[in-house]
Amino acid sequence: MPDRLTARPPDRLIDDCLSTRNGHLFIEQCDTTELVSRFGSPLFVISEDQLRRNVRRFQAAFASGWPDGPVKVLPAAKANWIAAVQHILASDGCGCDVYSAGELTVALQAGFEPQYISVNGVPKDDEHIYRCVHEGVRITIDSVEEVDAIERAATALDRVATVRLRLKPALAGFVRHSEFVAEGLVPTDIAALAYKGGLAFDDAVAVGRRLLAMEHVELVGFHQHHGRHHRSLRYWEEQMRAFAAEIARVGEALGGYRPREIDIGGGFAIPRDPFNAVTNYTEPLQLAVLHTLSKGLRVVGRRGRYGVLRQLVDLFASKPNATPAPSIEDYARVCTETLRDALHRVGIATEGLLLELEPGRSIHGDAGIHLTTVRSIKRMTHPIRFNLVVVDSTEFWLTGGRYEHHLHDYVFANKTDAPLEDKADIIGRSCFGDRLMPLVRIPQVEVGDLLALLDTGAYQEVSTSNFNALPRPATALVTGDRAVIIRRAETETDVLCRDVLPEHLGGG
Ligand SMILES: Cc1ncc(COP(=O)(O)O)c(C=O)c1O
Repeated sequence: MPDRLTARPPDRLIDDCLSTRNGHLFIEQCDTTELVSRFGSPLFVISEDQLRRNVRRFQAAFASGWPDGPVKVLPAAKANWIAAVQHILASDGCGCDVYSAGELTVALQAGFEPQYISVNGVPKDDEHIYRCVHEGVRITIDSVEEVDAIERAATALDRVATVRLRLKPALAGFVRHSEFVAEGLVPTDIAALAYKGGLAFDDAVAVGRRLLAMEHVELVGFHQHHGRHHRSLRYWEEQMRAFAAEIARVGEALGGYRPREIDIGGGFAIPRDPFNAVTNYTEPLQLAVLHTLSKGLRVVGRRGRYGVLRQLVDLFASKPNATPAPSIEDYARVCTETLRDALHRVGIATEGLLLELEPGRSIHGDAGIHLTTVRSIKRMTHPIRFNLVVVDSTEFWLTGGRYEHHLHDYVFANKTDAPLEDKADIIGRSCFGDRLMPLVRIPQVEVGDLLALLDTGAYQEVSTSNFNALPRPATALVTGDRAVIIRRAETETDVLCRDVLPEHLGGG
């Protein structure tokens, strides 16, 4: 039986699942400091209720904007494929977007209905394709090479394989810079074209013609996914227009083919949106100025130079994103209105048309937090003032966010009422620089304090690694006032168990 953790009324609601009470951070009705006392630090924590709230909001909002046909939400398993998490989503009536054979296994075990499992990915192995046909899931065709394998499997099994074509509409009307590319200001339409997903028009038509002639394969519709290049509603408007136009163009080339289902993919931002928040596009300029100044200041001598640099460093502080991203309801309204309108304009009726979507980060992101304990504090006062707060987590356990240049919002979980009166770099435990957060505001910290990084439910736990032979942390699931472990922490034996010592080196 899971323990019941203390429930107190909240002092302050941070969002639907987080609140503060008596100076402590709560996730649902659970005190985060008690979670760490029970399960250890660091710890990933997921809120079951928040997952269900997010799913239901997506389902309700898209259904209300799409009255002509059914709507199905297929959360992307890649964002968090822990078995318990997938069971929750299946029990809430979702479908599932999977990428790999492993994710398909998790999805089938969780009990999603096969026709609502969208199997994406390129390349797909023959064995994986055979299993997809056998299980009756939707195969989203994303390469010319997989077509023969699908036909072979369907013929061998004497089944009809149901497939969709993943299109790659050019987003010519959206040229604001892609936030996926942190290194420069690349226009979104170009960044989207350079991404591997989707079939170019000629390939889509050639594959489509072959599929329509096959006895054991049925083309049921179209798919697209560009991902989170930009969080604006304008970006989604452009995606929906471009998708509708490409559906019409490919349908026309296939002799008037009409889809029964369409899938718009994922890429909706989460409210606090940590995405790319550490990237400051004026940074090269700032650094150039700082570098030139720092070199120039050598003429005033060591004391003078550090005196100026000290003032400058004192000026800098990173801040998590303060402007919320559009809400689920806003995304749903813009997507459904634009898509219906654009499809009608190109003569495609929407009556009975199944609309699917594959949100990943926006289902999982704000359902998760990462708790990590302060283990060491290094305060430097000369020649410049600089604090390093070293915690027991590492960027290797927050890798998904590192790839996307996240700056997560954060709370000192045992000191939520303390004023943020100092500044520090938050540093991880690996031997790398491991700068988890550069120059952020902090309260007066002590060893043993608990830092909570918010919005870590998507892509983080599932991309952890064992750098420095560190065993990976556990994940706890919170349901109201109950908490249980749903992925245990690794042991040193787990970390070392794959190694094989050959005989000539003394192995058996
Ligand atoms: C095909 C597909 N669908 C959905 C998603 C989920 O995207 P997000 O987490 O940005 O919503 C991805 C992510 O890469 C994807 O490749």
